[in-house]
Amino acid sequence: MPTDIRKKPYFLTTPIYYVNARPHLGHTYTTVAADVLARWKRAQGFDVYFLTGTDEHGQKIERSAAKAGQSPLEFAGAVSAEFRALWDRMGLTYDDYIRTTEERHKRGVQKLFAELQQRGFIYKGTYTGQYCVSDELYVDGPAGTVCPDCGRVTETVSEENYYFKLSEFGERLLAYYDAHPEFIQPESRRNEVIAFVRGGLRDLSISRTSFNWGIPVPGDPKHVIYVWMDALANYITALGYGSDAPEDRARFATYWPADLHLIGKEISRFHCVYWPAFLLAAELPLPKSIVAHGWLLFEQSKMSKSRGNIVRAETILDVLGADALRFFLLREIVFGQDGSFSFDALVQRYNADLANGYGNLVSRTLAMIGKYFDGVVPETTAVRERYLQFQATHTAQIDGGGWGAASAVEVLAQSLGAECNAQIAEFATWMDALDFSHALTLAQALGARVDGFLTGVAPWKQAKENSEEAQAAQQAVRAVALYAAAEAVRIITALLHPVLPDATAKVWAQLGLGEIAQADLKDLQWGGLKPGTRLGELGPVFPRAEKEAIEQMQQKEDAGAAAAAAAVETNTGATMSQAAATTANAAEPKPAVEAKPTITIDDFAKVELRVAQIQVAERVPGADRLLRLEVDLGYERRQIVAGIAEAYAPESLIGRKVVIVANLAPRKLRGLESNGMVVAASLGEKGKPVLAGFLEEIEVGARLK
Ligand code: ME8
Ligand code: MG
Repeated sequence: MPTDIRKKPYFLTTPIYYVNARPHLGHTYTTVAADVLARWKRAQGFDVYFLTGTDEHGQKIERSAAKAGQSPLEFAGAVSAEFRALWDRMGLTYDDYIRTTEERHKRGVQKLFAELQQRGFIYKGTYTGQYCVSDELYVDGPAGTVCPDCGRVTETVSEENYYFKLSEFGERLLAYYDAHPEFIQPESRRNEVIAFVRGGLRDLSISRTSFNWGIPVPGDPKHVIYVWMDALANYITALGYGSDAPEDRARFATYWPADLHLIGKEISRFHCVYWPAFLLAAELPLPKSIVAHGWLLFEQSKMSKSRGNIVRAETILDVLGADALRFFLLREIVFGQDGSFSFDALVQRYNADLANGYGNLVSRTLAMIGKYFDGVVPETTAVRERYLQFQATHTAQIDGGGWGAASAVEVLAQSLGAECNAQIAEFATWMDALDFSHALTLAQALGARVDGFLTGVAPWKQAKENSEEAQAAQQAVRAVALYAAAEAVRIITALLHPVLPDATAKVWAQLGLGEIAQADLKDLQWGGLKPGTRLGELGPVFPRAEKEAIEQMQQKEDAGAAAAAAAVETNTGATMSQAAATTANAAEPKPAVEAKPTITIDDFAKVELRVAQIQVAERVPGADRLLRLEVDLGYERRQIVAGIAEAYAPESLIGRKVVIVANLAPRKLRGLESNGMVVAASLGEKGKPVLAGFLEEIEVGARLK
């Protein structure tokens, strides 16, 4: 009897997504990457537990539900079901789907709160300061400060709250980051987090009283627990934390600590600072690693609901299928960096890499086995002796034809085999490092290598002479070449399986190998394909996409976006993305206010303030502080030169709605005519500009009065 047949556990998570927005490609990106990794780890023999789910509490959701005229639970339930239905449609292999409105979660969160309280890490105090509802984030600064994450203007809140003694954990966190360089990846995020913690941590407000949609503080139900504490705890409550049932305790003991929390870079601080601090306080082990990937950009800015620049995964599934989308996301974008999505690039990759690349290699190889060997993987040992005899006395050459050619092809086939074996190991290294694009590039290079091999050998060539001997020798060339090509296809297919589950399942069946789901893809090695295997029914794997595919997707997207907009309403406003450099909880003293002489309402009415949307933003050569903007007022478009270049990257401004003084007399700056002025707050001694904006959705051209 085997004594240790237990597989090594591997616990992998995605963020749990807010239910105020429907799923878009940004969410799909993280969840697909996690699915690829889960499939990869399972193939390597791990006992994988892949967790995803939805984040359903907090003020943002409460407001969205109210706008939609639904109860928060009804509203959250509908959107959560939509996320889940999409993951199911895409065949994602999550093992658990947690909703923060579930009983198992509430119980665990309350237990965590009580645990921290008992250990003396929670106290009551009063918070007055700024809060970003959209990011559910406490922000430093005076009233009107914009959220460093999303650029929305924060709201002032003043409440009696429970506080977590985050300030006590700075040193321990820094020591931990230092001792565990793999804890935060990539390096750039790690440095950011370290700098943030070095800057000093202040205690964190962890309860709210101004709304009800949340998990009550145990013993003090007029407070609800801060939504980020609630959300982060999902990683343990899903495993059974807070339950005494034996199966829950066992699950928690098996899978915690997590091997990997996969997240988008904007939520690094919550995962790399708050979460480990809570765990340290509760004396629970910390996750082994947190990997933050970059942003998926669309039309030059972060794809997000509030910007309205989203693409839905469904659109792509309808036209090109899930594999095409998975491949694009992982191959096109270097994991960890930002990357752009466009329908053009998607179709381009699909055609070049999947239809002409892998798909074509499979069909040409298998079609030739069909034609020359009646669909049976050729035997090569019988012919091998013939050319070995020959080789002893001659120099092998493909061009010469005959047994010399067969023997030369054998040498090439062997070197192809050696290369496949080497690349299998290499591929694994890159997958384990989450460098998906690199791994895929490698698999593609292997495919190209096989293509080159086939072209060089040209198994379709006829024998030079009509003699039986020459015919037999040419058939030997084909046998060696097509066995090698089919074996390489088998290996490439096994490697690509985590990324292209549907297509590789088809190819596996075409190779006559049955169901790939049942196959053991661990310890892949050259030579595993058995000669004599009868191929399955052949058929196209990735039919070429026509030009219309792009238009089709664009049209579907427009139709879908309109339907979605009608169905779900959320609080949106002007946004901008900026790396989070500042934070957190307690308020700062307000600067002294400089008084201006009183004016009448008529004086004010002379100022025409309007909402405008930035269409173009570019630097003005030779002027460090100036940006040339083109803004849309709905009724006209105009140029404004604004002194905001030091505070805003031009590309972060595109699409942002700002307030302008529309009736300011035109003036010239650096030779450029400026028709109006952008309204901004001026912060600190240096007068750092912070653009005015709105929390609600606002029409371009609207007048402020
Ligand atoms: O932050 N590019 O939820 P969320 C790449 N509920 N990834 C993107 C993306 C984009 N344009 N847009 C979204 C929350 N994502 C919290 C998390 S976890 C305890 C609580 C992905 O709905 C990415 O993974 O705003 C990002 O971190 C996540 O969705 C944010 O989802
Ligand atoms: Mg977000």
